[in-house]
Amino acid sequence: WKMENFRAKEIARIRALVGPNDQVLGGVSGGVDSSVAAAVMKEAIGDRFHAILIDNGVMRLNECEQVKETLGEHLGINLTVVDGGELFLSRLKGVTDPEKKRKIIGKTFIDLFQEEAIRIEKEAEARPDVGPVKYLLQGTVCTTPAWPGCFYADDKMIALPRCVCLIWCSLWSQANHLSSIESVSYKGPAATIKTHHNVGGLPDTLNLKLIEPLREMFKDEVRAFGRELGIHHDVLMRHPFPGPGLAIRILGEVTPERVELSRRADHIFISEIRAAGIYDDISQAYVAISQDRAVGVQGDARVYGFIAILRAVVTSDFMSATPYEFDWKLIKKISTRILNEVDGITRVTYDMTSKPPGTIEME
Ligand code: XMP
Repeated sequence: WKMENFRAKEIARIRALVGPNDQVLGGVSGGVDSSVAAAVMKEAIGDRFHAILIDNGVMRLNECEQVKETLGEHLGINLTVVDGGELFLSRLKGVTDPEKKRKIIGKTFIDLFQEEAIRIEKEAEARPDVGPVKYLLQGTVCTTPAWPGCFYADDKMIALPRCVCLIWCSLWSQANHLSSIESVSYKGPAATIKTHHNVGGLPDTLNLKLIEPLREMFKDEVRAFGRELGIHHDVLMRHPFPGPGLAIRILGEVTPERVELSRRADHIFISEIRAAGIYDDISQAYVAISQDRAVGVQGDARVYGFIAILRAVVTSDFMSATPYEFDWKLIKKISTRILNEVDGITRVTYDMTSKPPGTIEME
Protein backbone atom coordinates (compact mmCIF):
# COMPACT_ATOMS: atom_id res chain seq x y z
CA TRP A 1 0.00 0.00 0.00
CA LYS A 2 0.94 3.66 -0.38
CA MET A 3 0.08 6.40 2.11
CA GLU A 4 -1.86 8.39 -0.54
CA ASN A 5 -4.38 5.65 -1.17
CA PHE A 6 -4.32 3.85 2.20
CA ARG A 7 -7.30 5.78 3.55
CA ALA A 8 -9.61 4.95 0.63
CA LYS A 9 -8.45 1.35 0.43
CA GLU A 10 -8.80 0.69 4.15
CA ILE A 11 -12.24 2.26 4.29
CA ALA A 12 -13.36 0.12 1.35
CA ARG A 13 -11.88 -2.98 3.04
CA ILE A 14 -13.69 -2.25 6.32
CA ARG A 15 -17.01 -1.63 4.54
CA ALA A 16 -16.68 -4.90 2.65
CA LEU A 17 -15.73 -6.84 5.79
CA VAL A 18 -18.30 -5.38 8.17
CA GLY A 19 -21.76 -6.15 6.83
CA PRO A 20 -24.14 -3.28 6.02
CA ASN A 21 -25.87 -3.54 9.42
CA ASP A 22 -23.17 -4.96 11.69
CA GLN A 23 -21.84 -2.89 14.54
CA VAL A 24 -18.28 -2.45 15.79
CA LEU A 25 -17.09 -1.79 19.32
CA GLY A 26 -13.74 -0.11 19.86
CA GLY A 27 -11.63 0.64 22.89
CA VAL A 28 -10.20 4.15 22.60
CA SER A 29 -7.55 5.34 25.04
CA GLY A 30 -6.80 8.76 23.56
CA GLY A 31 -3.40 7.63 22.33
CA VAL A 32 -2.28 7.85 18.74
CA ASP A 33 -3.02 4.28 17.64
CA SER A 34 -6.54 3.93 19.01
CA SER A 35 -7.49 7.48 17.94
CA VAL A 36 -6.33 6.96 14.36
CA ALA A 37 -8.04 3.55 14.21
CA ALA A 38 -11.26 5.08 15.58
CA ALA A 39 -11.13 7.92 13.04
CA VAL A 40 -10.90 5.44 10.14
CA MET A 41 -13.68 3.28 11.54
CA LYS A 42 -15.96 6.25 12.08
CA GLU A 43 -15.38 7.37 8.50
CA ALA A 44 -16.06 3.85 7.22
CA ILE A 45 -19.26 2.95 9.09
CA GLY A 46 -20.45 6.12 10.85
CA ASP A 47 -22.55 5.60 13.97
CA ARG A 48 -22.46 1.81 13.76
CA PHE A 49 -19.04 2.28 15.38
CA HIS A 50 -19.16 2.62 19.16
CA ALA A 51 -16.07 4.11 20.78
CA ILE A 52 -15.63 3.11 24.40
CA LEU A 53 -13.19 4.31 27.01
CA ILE A 54 -13.17 2.14 30.09
CA ASP A 55 -12.27 4.17 33.13
CA ASN A 56 -10.28 1.63 35.10
CA GLY A 57 -9.89 3.90 38.13
CA VAL A 58 -6.16 4.19 37.40
CA MET A 59 -6.23 6.79 34.65
CA ARG A 60 -4.25 10.02 34.97
CA LEU A 61 -5.64 13.30 36.32
CA ASN A 62 -8.75 14.38 34.30
CA GLU A 63 -7.74 11.98 31.52
CA CYS A 64 -11.16 10.51 30.69
CA GLU A 65 -12.80 13.95 30.41
CA GLN A 66 -9.97 15.25 28.25
CA VAL A 67 -9.99 12.28 25.87
CA LYS A 68 -13.77 12.53 25.48
CA GLU A 69 -13.52 16.23 24.72
CA THR A 70 -10.63 15.86 22.25
CA LEU A 71 -12.27 13.02 20.33
CA GLY A 72 -15.57 14.86 20.15
CA GLU A 73 -14.04 18.17 19.08
CA HIS A 74 -11.49 16.93 16.57
CA LEU A 75 -12.99 13.73 15.22
CA GLY A 76 -16.70 14.04 15.88
CA ILE A 77 -16.57 10.78 17.84
CA ASN A 78 -19.07 10.44 20.66
CA LEU A 79 -16.98 8.53 23.18
CA THR A 80 -18.80 6.52 25.84
CA VAL A 81 -16.87 6.53 29.09
CA VAL A 82 -17.68 3.41 31.10
CA ASP A 83 -17.07 3.95 34.78
CA GLY A 84 -15.32 0.80 35.94
CA GLY A 85 -13.21 2.51 38.63
CA GLU A 86 -14.78 0.89 41.67
CA LEU A 87 -14.87 -2.55 40.11
CA PHE A 88 -11.19 -2.44 39.09
CA LEU A 89 -10.05 -1.08 42.46
CA SER A 90 -12.11 -3.60 44.39
CA ARG A 91 -10.66 -6.49 42.38
CA LEU A 92 -7.14 -5.08 42.89
CA LYS A 93 -7.57 -4.67 46.65
CA GLY A 94 -4.82 -6.44 48.58
CA VAL A 95 -3.05 -7.62 45.39
CA THR A 96 0.66 -6.80 45.26
CA ASP A 97 2.07 -9.16 42.64
CA PRO A 98 2.62 -7.30 39.31
CA GLU A 99 1.55 -10.22 37.10
CA LYS A 100 -1.60 -10.81 39.16
CA LYS A 101 -2.42 -7.11 38.89
CA ARG A 102 -2.01 -7.24 35.10
CA LYS A 103 -4.19 -10.33 34.79
CA ILE A 104 -6.97 -8.92 36.97
CA ILE A 105 -6.99 -5.73 34.94
CA GLY A 106 -7.00 -7.62 31.61
CA LYS A 107 -9.91 -9.79 32.70
CA THR A 108 -11.91 -6.86 34.04
CA PHE A 109 -11.48 -5.02 30.71
CA ILE A 110 -12.87 -8.05 28.88
CA ASP A 111 -15.80 -8.33 31.31
CA LEU A 112 -16.72 -4.69 30.79
CA PHE A 113 -16.35 -4.90 27.00
CA GLN A 114 -18.68 -7.86 27.04
CA GLU A 115 -21.24 -5.90 29.06
CA GLU A 116 -20.99 -2.98 26.66
CA ALA A 117 -21.49 -5.24 23.63
CA ILE A 118 -24.66 -6.65 25.25
CA ARG A 119 -25.92 -3.16 26.13
CA ILE A 120 -25.39 -1.90 22.56
CA GLU A 121 -27.11 -4.96 21.11
CA LYS A 122 -30.10 -4.48 23.41
CA GLU A 123 -30.41 -0.87 22.25
CA ALA A 124 -30.17 -2.05 18.64
CA GLU A 125 -33.17 -4.34 19.04
CA ALA A 126 -35.40 -1.30 18.70
CA ARG A 127 -33.68 -0.23 15.45
CA PRO A 128 -34.30 -2.22 12.26
CA ASP A 129 -31.37 -0.51 10.48
CA VAL A 130 -28.64 -1.93 12.74
CA GLY A 131 -27.65 -5.49 13.55
CA PRO A 132 -25.46 -7.28 16.08
CA VAL A 133 -22.08 -6.17 17.42
CA LYS A 134 -19.71 -8.44 15.55
CA TYR A 135 -16.29 -6.80 15.69
CA LEU A 136 -13.88 -5.32 18.18
CA LEU A 137 -11.62 -2.57 16.84
CA GLN A 138 -8.02 -2.50 18.05
CA GLY A 139 -5.37 0.03 17.09
CA THR A 140 -2.63 -2.61 16.95
CA VAL A 141 0.35 -1.43 14.93
CA CYS A 142 3.36 -3.22 13.58
CA THR A 143 6.28 -2.14 15.72
CA THR A 144 9.93 -2.69 14.97
CA PRO A 145 10.86 -6.32 15.23
CA ALA A 146 13.54 -7.13 17.78
CA TRP A 147 15.70 -8.47 15.08
CA PRO A 148 19.26 -7.47 14.24
CA GLY A 149 18.68 -7.28 10.50
CA CYS A 150 16.19 -4.47 10.89
CA PHE A 151 17.07 -1.34 12.80
CA TYR A 152 16.37 2.34 13.34
CA ALA A 153 18.60 5.34 12.76
CA ASP A 154 17.36 8.89 13.24
CA ASP A 155 13.86 7.50 13.70
CA LYS A 156 13.86 5.90 10.26
CA MET A 157 13.87 2.20 9.74
CA ILE A 158 16.69 1.19 7.46
CA ALA A 159 18.39 -1.88 6.03
CA LEU A 160 15.65 -4.35 5.28
CA PRO A 161 12.70 -3.82 2.99
CA ARG A 162 9.28 -3.52 4.57
CA CYS A 163 8.05 -6.77 3.05
CA VAL A 164 10.71 -8.74 4.92
CA CYS A 165 9.79 -7.07 8.19
CA LEU A 166 6.11 -7.69 7.61
CA ILE A 167 6.72 -11.36 6.92
CA TRP A 168 8.71 -11.47 10.17
CA CYS A 169 5.88 -9.70 12.02
CA SER A 170 3.27 -11.98 10.59
CA LEU A 171 5.23 -15.17 11.34
CA TRP A 172 5.73 -14.05 14.91
CA SER A 173 2.10 -13.07 15.25
CA GLN A 174 0.93 -16.46 14.05
CA ALA A 175 3.48 -18.36 16.09
CA ASN A 176 2.54 -16.51 19.25
CA HIS A 177 -1.14 -16.06 18.47
CA LEU A 178 -0.49 -12.37 18.95
CA SER A 179 -1.47 -9.46 16.82
CA SER A 180 1.57 -7.28 17.28
CA ILE A 181 5.27 -7.85 17.22
CA GLU A 182 5.53 -5.60 20.28
CA SER A 183 4.39 -8.59 22.24
CA VAL A 184 7.70 -10.27 21.57
CA SER A 185 9.23 -8.19 24.31
CA TYR A 186 6.82 -9.75 26.76
CA LYS A 187 7.78 -13.33 26.09
CA GLY A 188 11.20 -14.74 26.66
CA PRO A 189 12.18 -18.28 25.78
CA ALA A 190 12.09 -19.24 29.44
CA ALA A 191 9.45 -17.09 31.00
CA THR A 192 6.88 -14.42 30.42
CA ILE A 193 8.34 -11.07 31.40
CA LYS A 194 5.05 -9.20 31.46
CA THR A 195 1.54 -10.08 30.46
CA HIS A 196 0.49 -7.39 28.05
CA HIS A 197 -3.12 -6.74 28.96
CA ASN A 198 -4.30 -6.18 25.40
CA VAL A 199 -2.55 -8.84 23.33
CA GLY A 200 -2.82 -12.58 23.18
CA GLY A 201 -6.00 -12.76 21.14
CA LEU A 202 -9.53 -12.51 22.41
CA PRO A 203 -11.05 -15.04 24.80
CA ASP A 204 -13.73 -17.27 23.27
CA THR A 205 -16.31 -15.89 25.71
CA LEU A 206 -16.01 -12.51 24.01
CA ASN A 207 -17.93 -13.32 20.92
CA LEU A 208 -16.30 -10.65 18.74
CA LYS A 209 -13.85 -10.78 15.86
CA LEU A 210 -10.83 -8.51 15.88
CA ILE A 211 -10.50 -5.77 13.29
CA GLU A 212 -7.15 -3.97 13.08
CA PRO A 213 -6.90 -1.29 10.38
CA LEU A 214 -3.34 -0.25 11.30
CA ARG A 215 -1.83 -3.70 11.57
CA GLU A 216 0.56 -3.12 8.65
CA MET A 217 1.76 0.31 9.73
CA PHE A 218 4.76 1.30 11.75
CA LYS A 219 4.33 4.01 14.38
CA ASP A 220 5.75 6.87 12.28
CA GLU A 221 3.39 5.90 9.47
CA VAL A 222 0.42 5.87 11.85
CA ARG A 223 1.35 9.42 12.84
CA ALA A 224 1.64 10.51 9.19
CA PHE A 225 -1.72 8.91 8.46
CA GLY A 226 -3.21 10.60 11.53
CA ARG A 227 -1.96 13.96 10.24
CA GLU A 228 -3.73 13.27 6.94
CA LEU A 229 -6.92 12.57 8.88
CA GLY A 230 -6.54 15.92 10.63
CA ILE A 231 -5.84 14.51 14.09
CA HIS A 232 -4.39 17.01 16.55
CA HIS A 233 -0.59 17.13 17.08
CA ASP A 234 -0.91 16.49 20.84
CA VAL A 235 -2.81 13.25 20.21
CA LEU A 236 -0.34 12.12 17.55
CA MET A 237 2.66 12.79 19.76
CA ARG A 238 1.19 11.59 23.06
CA HIS A 239 3.51 9.36 25.05
CA PRO A 240 2.25 5.77 25.26
CA PHE A 241 0.16 5.04 28.33
CA PRO A 242 -0.22 1.37 29.21
CA GLY A 243 -3.63 -0.28 29.38
CA PRO A 244 -3.17 -1.23 33.07
CA GLY A 245 -2.64 2.50 33.65
CA LEU A 246 -1.18 3.82 36.88
CA ALA A 247 -1.67 0.39 38.49
CA ILE A 248 1.70 -0.78 37.13
CA ARG A 249 3.33 2.46 38.26
CA ILE A 250 2.02 2.21 41.81
CA LEU A 251 4.34 -0.46 43.08
CA GLY A 252 2.63 -3.04 45.24
CA GLU A 253 -0.98 -2.60 46.33
CA VAL A 254 -3.10 -0.08 44.46
CA THR A 255 -5.05 1.94 47.01
CA PRO A 256 -7.20 5.03 46.33
CA GLU A 257 -4.76 7.09 48.43
CA ARG A 258 -1.75 6.04 46.35
CA VAL A 259 -3.66 6.50 43.06
CA GLU A 260 -4.24 10.10 44.13
CA LEU A 261 -0.54 10.64 44.94
CA SER A 262 0.46 9.13 41.61
CA ARG A 263 -2.01 11.29 39.66
CA ARG A 264 -0.96 14.54 41.26
CA ALA A 265 2.79 13.92 41.06
CA ASP A 266 2.53 12.71 37.46
CA HIS A 267 0.51 15.78 36.50
CA ILE A 268 3.23 18.10 37.87
CA PHE A 269 6.00 16.15 36.11
CA ILE A 270 4.29 16.13 32.71
CA SER A 271 3.14 19.77 32.97
CA GLU A 272 6.72 20.88 33.68
CA ILE A 273 8.04 18.78 30.80
CA ARG A 274 5.50 20.39 28.48
CA ALA A 275 6.24 23.89 29.80
CA ALA A 276 9.96 23.34 29.18
CA GLY A 277 9.19 22.42 25.54
CA ILE A 278 10.85 18.99 25.80
CA TYR A 279 7.77 16.74 25.70
CA ASP A 280 8.41 15.63 22.11
CA ASP A 281 12.11 14.95 22.87
CA ILE A 282 11.14 12.38 25.50
CA SER A 283 9.53 9.12 24.39
CA GLN A 284 7.77 8.34 27.65
CA ALA A 285 7.70 9.96 31.07
CA TYR A 286 5.79 9.25 34.24
CA VAL A 287 6.00 9.13 38.01
CA ALA A 288 5.92 5.84 39.89
CA ILE A 289 5.08 5.55 43.58
CA SER A 290 7.19 3.19 45.64
CA GLN A 291 5.94 0.74 48.21
CA ASP A 292 8.59 1.96 50.64
CA ARG A 293 8.23 5.02 52.77
CA ALA A 294 10.75 7.61 53.89
CA VAL A 295 10.75 10.12 56.72
CA GLY A 296 10.43 13.78 55.88
CA VAL A 297 9.62 17.07 57.60
CA GLN A 298 6.65 19.30 56.88
CA GLY A 299 6.64 22.50 58.91
CA ASP A 300 7.82 21.17 62.25
CA ALA A 301 6.16 17.81 61.92
CA ARG A 302 7.61 14.45 61.04
CA VAL A 303 5.96 12.90 57.98
CA TYR A 304 6.35 9.28 56.94
CA GLY A 305 5.46 9.39 53.25
CA PHE A 306 6.00 7.58 49.97
CA ILE A 307 8.85 7.95 47.48
CA ALA A 308 8.07 9.33 44.01
CA ILE A 309 10.25 7.84 41.28
CA LEU A 310 10.51 9.97 38.15
CA ARG A 311 11.06 8.01 34.94
CA ALA A 312 11.72 9.56 31.51
CA VAL A 313 13.18 7.59 28.64
CA VAL A 314 14.27 8.08 25.07
CA THR A 315 13.74 5.29 22.58
CA SER A 316 12.89 4.77 18.94
CA ASP A 317 11.30 1.36 19.31
CA PHE A 318 10.46 0.83 23.01
CA MET A 319 12.47 -2.40 22.87
CA SER A 320 15.48 -0.60 24.29
CA ALA A 321 15.62 2.79 25.98
CA THR A 322 17.93 5.15 27.81
CA PRO A 323 17.11 7.64 30.57
CA TYR A 324 16.50 11.21 29.37
CA GLU A 325 19.25 13.64 30.40
CA PHE A 326 17.41 16.38 32.23
CA ASP A 327 18.64 19.85 32.81
CA TRP A 328 19.57 19.84 36.52
CA LYS A 329 17.65 23.03 37.31
CA LEU A 330 14.48 21.64 35.77
CA ILE A 331 14.63 18.33 37.61
CA LYS A 332 15.25 20.20 40.88
CA LYS A 333 12.25 22.43 40.20
CA ILE A 334 10.05 19.40 39.50
CA SER A 335 11.23 17.69 42.66
CA THR A 336 10.54 20.78 44.78
CA ARG A 337 7.05 21.19 43.30
CA ILE A 338 6.12 17.58 43.97
CA LEU A 339 7.38 17.73 47.56
CA ASN A 340 5.62 21.03 48.22
CA GLU A 341 2.35 20.27 46.48
CA VAL A 342 1.71 16.57 47.04
CA ASP A 343 1.15 15.73 50.69
CA GLY A 344 2.18 12.18 51.36
CA ILE A 345 5.31 12.21 49.19
CA THR A 346 8.50 12.80 51.15
CA ARG A 347 11.20 11.92 48.62
CA VAL A 348 11.72 12.29 44.89
CA THR A 349 14.22 10.16 42.96
CA TYR A 350 15.11 9.85 39.27
CA ASP A 351 15.30 6.40 37.72
CA MET A 352 18.56 6.04 35.77
CA THR A 353 17.90 2.50 34.51
CA SER A 354 18.26 1.74 30.81
CA LYS A 355 16.21 -0.92 29.04
CA PRO A 356 17.64 -3.55 29.08
CA PRO A 357 18.23 -4.55 31.80
CA GLY A 358 15.25 -2.56 33.13
CA THR A 359 11.90 -2.21 31.42
CA ILE A 360 10.14 1.05 30.76
CA GLU A 361 7.27 0.39 33.13
CA MET A 362 8.16 -0.62 36.69
CA GLU A 363 5.85 -3.64 36.86
P1 XMP B 1 8.13 -2.22 29.06
O1 XMP B 1 7.73 -1.91 30.45
O2 XMP B 1 7.92 -3.66 28.71
O3 XMP B 1 7.15 -1.38 28.13
O4 XMP B 1 9.53 -1.80 28.73
C1 XMP B 1 7.31 -1.15 26.72
C2 XMP B 1 6.17 -0.29 26.24
O5 XMP B 1 4.93 -1.01 26.37
C3 XMP B 1 4.04 -0.30 27.22
N1 XMP B 1 3.32 -1.30 28.01
C4 XMP B 1 2.03 -1.60 27.82
N2 XMP B 1 1.12 -1.10 26.98
N3 XMP B 1 -0.49 -2.58 27.86
C5 XMP B 1 -0.16 -1.58 27.02
O6 XMP B 1 -1.02 -1.10 26.29
C6 XMP B 1 0.37 -3.15 28.74
O7 XMP B 1 0.02 -4.05 29.49
C7 XMP B 1 1.71 -2.62 28.72
N4 XMP B 1 2.79 -2.91 29.45
C8 XMP B 1 3.79 -2.07 29.00
C9 XMP B 1 4.91 0.62 28.05
O8 XMP B 1 4.18 1.74 28.55
C10 XMP B 1 5.99 0.98 27.05
O9 XMP B 1 5.56 2.01 26.19
